Formats: sequence, structure tokens, C-alpha cells
Amino acid sequence: MFRRLPDDPRATVTIALDGEPLTARAGDTVAAAMLAAGVGHTRTTPVGDAPRLPYCMMGVCFDCLMEIDGVPNRQACLVRVRDGMTVRRQQGARVVLE
Ligand code: FES
Repeated sequence: MFRRLPDDPRATVTIALDGEPLTARAGDTVAAAMLAAGVGHTRTTPVGDAPRLPYCMMGVCFDCLMEIDGVPNRQACLVRVRDGMTVRRQQGARVVLE
């Protein structure tokens, strides 16, 4: 569905998606890294458990909610990847942290 431009000279970083290593381009958002890697979904809905992927890529739709570095409900399209970052698919509803 998504393909990288050829000859992208950016460095790569390694993040963990659900405990498995995943290579991403430095400077990408987590959502962009997920789409580029072709992951099946990044979260499921609280009602119906339907799979979702990032959609708007600008912080509006909330379809990209993921657990990033242990914090649930993060908008993956607004967070840049960082080497060693841990990311988890979000299954259903999460408790909102204060
Ligand atoms: S993709 Fe829509 S809010 Fe992140």
C-alpha cells in the first residue's frame, strides 16, 4: 500500500513493536513507521474489536492510538521514532492516565 521513495538517505533506528524489533527511518513518526512496515493494524476498537490503522496522519482522527514507551493512548502520528522506543498495539480501551 505504501512504498518508500528510493534512495532515502536517512539513518535508521530500531524500535520494538509488541516485543519484536522493527527498523524505522530516523525522523519518521511512529505511525509512518507502522505504515511503512506494513503492520496489519495499530489498535483495535473498544466496541467490536475492529482493527484500525493511522488515517489522517495529523492528529485529528485518533485511529493511530498506541502504547508508546509504556504510555497508552498516544497518537502515533504525532510522536517521532527514537532508537530503543517500545511500541505496543493498543487492544480496545485503555485507562486514561492522569
Ligand atoms: S492518524 Fe489520525 S490522529 Fe493519528
